[in-house]
Amino acid sequence: MKLLVTGGAGFIGSNFILYWLNNYPQDKIINLDKLTYAGNLENLKKVEKNSNYTFVKGNICDAEFIEGVIREIDVIVHFAAESHVDRSIREPSDFVMTNVVGTQVLLDAALKNGVKRFHHISTDEVFGSLNLNDSSKFNERTNYNPRSPYSASKASADHLVRVYYYTYNLPITITNCSNNFGSYQFPEKFIPLAITNILENKKVPVYGDGLYIRDWLYVEDHVRAIDLVLEKGKIGETYLIGGMLNNISNIDIVKKILKFMDKDEDYIEFVKDRPGHDRRYSVDWSKIKSELGWQPKYDFEIWLEKTIDWYKENEDWWKKIKTGEYSKYYQEQYGQT
Ligand code: NAD
Ligand code: DAU
Repeated sequence: MKLLVTGGAGFIGSNFILYWLNNYPQDKIINLDKLTYAGNLENLKKVEKNSNYTFVKGNICDAEFIEGVIREIDVIVHFAAESHVDRSIREPSDFVMTNVVGTQVLLDAALKNGVKRFHHISTDEVFGSLNLNDSSKFNERTNYNPRSPYSASKASADHLVRVYYYTYNLPITITNCSNNFGSYQFPEKFIPLAITNILENKKVPVYGDGLYIRDWLYVEDHVRAIDLVLEKGKIGETYLIGGMLNNISNIDIVKKILKFMDKDEDYIEFVKDRPGHDRRYSVDWSKIKSELGWQPKYDFEIWLEKTIDWYKENEDWWKKIKTGEYSKYYQEQYGQT
């Protein structure tokens, strides 16, 4: 099988490629990535010499370029996106361009070239925000209600993907996943930001009252779920993917990280809230469990600690990132370096 993975130099895409080549060494993967600030080929060092792996630098919005790489591709796994909510609030246009227009360009090319499966990676953020004090969860029937430029662009992409199924019979599947954590996550995201700031002896910025809740999932659980959807998922269907643990607040996560790293709570700094900050996400993953037999298997605390170890052992990886463009972004976002 020949797969085109878009955004394979990012956090989840690179974890997917490493997993796939390990489990399906006979398959061929083309990794198509624009290498934005978030793309990093160092994530793929372990496979760069593998003859079944090819990297192609390019933009998913460029139809002519896409036409050149898509021939003889069986499956597209579409990760490429602008993915950080705070950046989308500062500058929405790249999000609309890559996440909406780029997805439509890929869909067109997939249709023209008879791709056997277009799998779209989406997010639980398209469903909006849940109340803090109830036990409701998102499921496959929840109405879309995006509340940031990022989630609005992902919601638009999801709609387009479904339209290509209903209108043109393109064989698609979609997964909407909750917050991932693990190795190779760019340190603008909450967990790696907290870990690397502590390693640098800097405070951890916590937005608002810190009582916001996300549904945390270890990245390899996500990648395994995508594998199952590619193998057994029903064409045209959407599957939600989430973690085991419910209702852990951001502030409690920072406290756990501090405890694991043997530091006191002076590292916590409450800062100005994110505009339109979604209060709570929680995912009901019973459909993918009952239909495909998937459930998360990586315990949050154990894998949080292993993730801390990974960042401790890979200082070179994140220290290179935290200079240059990142420090400018950090200054603008948090008003300090
Ligand atoms: P990331 O920001 O780490 O990586 C995105 C990758 O896409 C980068 O390598 C970047 O260079 C590439 N890219 C961006 N614009 C491109 C373009 N125009 N053409 C080609 N490549 C381009 O993101 P991530 O966290 O790995 O997320 C991957 C996907 O999963 C995204 O679609 C995101 O919306 C979705 N998702 C992420 C999470 C999460 O917790 N990180 C949760 C649910 C869904
Ligand atoms: O839910 C899935 C989504 O999870 C993905 O679609 C996105 O691509 C991914 O970035 C992530 O979005 P979030 O906005 O939930 O993740 P982030 O790591 O930015 O923030 C997690 C929580 O931590 C959120 O409540 C905001 C808070 N936060 C974040 C940062 C960066 C802070 O309190 N301080 C911070 O400095």
